[in-house]
Order: sequence, then structure tokens, then C-alpha cells
Amino acid sequence: MEPGSRGSRNGIDVRTFATQADACEAAAAEIAAIIETGPAVLGLAAGRTPVGVYDALVARHAKGLSFARVETFNLDEWWPIDLQSPASFHRFMHASLFDRVDLPRGKRHVPNGTIAADRLDAHCREYEAKIAAAGGIDLQLLGIGRNGHVGFNEPGSARDSRTRKVELTASTLEDNAAAFGSVAAVPRHALTMGIGTILAARRLLVLAFGGRKASIVEAMVKGAPGEAVPATLLRGHPKLELYCDAEAAILL
Ligand code: GLP
Repeated sequence: MEPGSRGSRNGIDVRTFATQADACEAAAAEIAAIIETGPAVLGLAAGRTPVGVYDALVARHAKGLSFARVETFNLDEWWPIDLQSPASFHRFMHASLFDRVDLPRGKRHVPNGTIAADRLDAHCREYEAKIAAAGGIDLQLLGIGRNGHVGFNEPGSARDSRTRKVELTASTLEDNAAAFGSVAAVPRHALTMGIGTILAARRLLVLAFGGRKASIVEAMVKGAPGEAVPATLLRGHPKLELYCDAEAAILL
């Protein structure tokens, strides 16, 4: 697809942008529009992909956008992990967004990577209950892993899966080795919202940037839907949007 174009592909509203910065600015504008209309519940993502969106939201905050009536739920977290580990999504979210805007302290939720094994199931159920108590997620921001994972829903994840502990695949461990110093240092497990949790959000905004995402973007948009590529399970959601830069959209 040409940069600057927009079209529906297999029920996905696909927008392509000349640059990653343009796509992040457009995503921030959509999120800001939701925040400006009243109380909002946002689903957030970690990873390199959404950093530009958080920077654009912080820039809007400097010009008056308030997060005082916003509640957020992150998709996932490594397990187990020390919250202050440089690679924890908890720490990443504080550095990228939470410490830079006026989002109330009690309204920022990230699955707890320090939770004891015998408390895991209860913690995951409580996370789902908190999302429900907040009224559900208005917009869920998502990246996509090179193997098609969304959150940490690895291939084989069920369409109706909910927040739970998952075992990570070799490709995910390799993709994240740099953040931990080596593949061996990457936690083998994670906590993640399920595909069913994500599908319950009222709007899904998937971001994909760079040539390394081009083939998985092609599979998400054009491939047969199924558990082998979890991102395809999002198809059928009534408000599913995909923002790509030119490189990620090259095979569309
Ligand atoms: C990570 C996260 C996902 C993220 C994806 C892509 O492992 N669990 O939530 O969307 O993989 O990461 P990146 O944005 O760094 O390419």
C-alpha cells in the first residue's frame, strides 16, 4: 500500500504513513480525542513500537491535555521480574508515560511480575475484574511480535483466552535478549491479557513499523485466521485498525 493511503482489508482498517513519526502522531491524536471527551480507559503496550505515541501524548500534555480522568491497563509483563529491572514493562511505562503526565497513581495498572507463583491465578482474575470495574477498555494500543504475538499471546493462544501466565517462545526470547543482556537472562514466562480480553476492548489500534515487521503484517492482514498467528484472531473485531509505516506495509 502507498504511504498516505487507507483501506479496508479483511475487515481491518489499514492506514499507511510515510514515516513512523507520522503514524505515532496520528495514533496520539486519536487517543487524545478520546481523552478529551471524558473519562477514558486505555489499554497500553510496552515494546519499542509505541514509544513515539507516548512521546506525542507527553507533548500534548505539555500543551494542556490532562490525563486526570484516564485509567490505563497494560497488556503484559515479564514473570518473574524485579519491578526496577531496566527491562521490566512496569519501569518502561513509568519512564515512557506515567512519570511524564498527570495520570493518577491508582489508575495505572500493569500486571505484577513480582507476584508469587501461588498467587498468580488470583492476580490474573483480579486484573480482569479491575478492567471490568473500570467499565472495559475504550481503546487498546497494540504492537505485534515477529511471530504474530499480541501482548504475550504466543502462537497457539486461544481466541477466548484471558489474562494468564504464558510460556514464551524461542523467537520471543531471542528478540528480547538485548534488553536483558543475553537470551539466557530473559524470563521464560510472562503475564498477559488474553486474546479474549483484548477482543473485549471497544477499539483496537495495532502499530507496526519497519521492514522487520513486513512479513508478519502481511500474515496478519492476508493470511488464514488461526491460532498459529495470534494477530489474525483480532480480525472480526468491529473496530480494528492497523497503522503502518511505509516499510511495514511494503507487502500489502
Ligand atoms: C513484545 C511485547 C509485545 C510487543 C511486541 C513487539 O515482546 N510483549 O506487547 O508488542 O513484543 O515488540 P516491539 O514493539 O519492541 O517490536
